[in-house]
Amino acid sequence: MTPAAQLNQTQNQSDLLPPLVDSFDRVHESLRISVTDACNIRCRYCMPETVLGFLPQNRLLKYESIARIVSVFARAGVHKIRLTGGEPLMRPNLEKLIEQLNVIPGLRQIAMTTNAMLLADKITSLEKAGLTHVNISLDTLRESAFKEISRRDGLDQVLSGIDAAVSSSLKVRLNALVLREINLQDCVPLVEFARQRNLFIRFIEFMPLDADRQWSQDQVVDGNELRLHLETHFGPLTPIDRFDPAQPATDFGFADGRGGVGFIDPVSQPFCKSCNRIRLTADGKLRNCLFGREEWDLKGACETGASDQVIYDIAASCIKSKYASHGISSSDFKQPERAMYQIGG
Ligand code: 5AD
Ligand code: SF4
Repeated sequence: MTPAAQLNQTQNQSDLLPPLVDSFDRVHESLRISVTDACNIRCRYCMPETVLGFLPQNRLLKYESIARIVSVFARAGVHKIRLTGGEPLMRPNLEKLIEQLNVIPGLRQIAMTTNAMLLADKITSLEKAGLTHVNISLDTLRESAFKEISRRDGLDQVLSGIDAAVSSSLKVRLNALVLREINLQDCVPLVEFARQRNLFIRFIEFMPLDADRQWSQDQVVDGNELRLHLETHFGPLTPIDRFDPAQPATDFGFADGRGGVGFIDPVSQPFCKSCNRIRLTADGKLRNCLFGREEWDLKGACETGASDQVIYDIAASCIKSKYASHGISSSDFKQPERAMYQIGG
């Protein structure tokens, strides 16, 4: 199957729905879909050490419903899809969902964020199904730190997953999250690792979305501090113009043109003003923000025979209720009920 990016089928004008615009004029073009809350590791910034139970099969939004929802959103101008989890590859036959998404007119990107533990074996079928981009989480190259962060073994498996992705035709990027007390020392080796493979690596600030509710400002290493730290090793980084205004990362290149580094700073430099993202949880709830306190039920709507127009109206009402910003720094900020693995990163 040709990747969605190549297909880029044009929409039939009569199928179009009004764009999903919120009360601050932000046009929503990107949908992040969590396909499962299950994961094979237990990153401390995301999951609890022990999980009481993941969502049972009957509470997961079915692939048919996901594809149906995406086709409605695509008619309203959503052109970028990101599959997330938990760990998306924990959901059986993810390729089947990608195949269904790949034939939806209007989509330009079908991306996935993964911990790469299961990627090596799946990359060929994902590529064939039409996946176009993969973001791989890699916080350290030391097995001991991997274990301290993820509370599991498996760094070798992750590195094999990265090798497989790099050898595929997919666009690959690395994501790292730095916790001051654990892996600050890893950022230079991580950037070197990325540059050796001509990859971009983006550092994401730790957000208050961990299940253990242990987040504290002292654990956050902000992008500015990281950049200065990297520059003492690599020399001055060259800013790269934002090619997509909704892109949350500030990216930099190196003098020799190999790889690149970016900083996503939701805590120190919120980018809510240009946010164009909507989120669908694995149990079929639509959220307008990672930190939102309200959810709109699309699973119920799909399973009770709602028309496309009703699905669109639910989405439009979710977007209309979006706040101007997440308010992490405000004194009355409250961490949402759901942790990152239950929302989808
Ligand atoms: N803060 C920021 N990013 C997080 N992720 C998970 N939990 C958090 C958090 N609390 C991101 C990680 C991982 C991706 C799946 O989600 O960067 O790469
Ligand atoms: Fe799993 Fe990703 Fe959460 Fe880590 S960050 S526990 S890999 S879902």
